[in-house]
Amino acid sequence: MAGRTELTSVETVHEEGSWLFTATDERGDAEEVLLVPCEDGVSAWINRCTHEAQRFDTGRGAPIRDGQIICPRHGSLFDSCTGYCDNGEAADTTLPGVDVEVEESTVYLVDEDYDFSHEGEADEDDGTPSSTSHIGF
Ligand code: FES
Repeated sequence: MAGRTELTSVETVHEEGSWLFTATDERGDAEEVLLVPCEDGVSAWINRCTHEAQRFDTGRGAPIRDGQIICPRHGSLFDSCTGYCDNGEAADTTLPGVDVEVEESTVYLVDEDYDFSHEGEADEDDGTPSSTSHIGF
């Protein structure tokens, strides 16, 4: 991508616990990216477990505890700063990262492989918003 794209503020990621957006890769395919707090800043990971194609944030924010992202399917814990998992089904794997940078508390997407699409979940192929039927009440 050319340049950088403003995403959100560090405060927002810390207050909400995580912040999801959709980017398109070089083939034009949508990929969900998760911003999570890392110490005073943020880090960005593809919103998908390395074990199976399980999303961390399914539309209600990612489950995070003690600086670790929790896989909702089998419970593996990923370090929110390094993306590394040392436990459970996903043990000894690392989440694919996405390059972001922080300047004056604003988070920017700077990854050459991804273009910002929109905040939130990926749309279905026909452009309609992804169904909320995944959300359980
Ligand atoms: S799908 Fe995440 S640990 Fe199995």
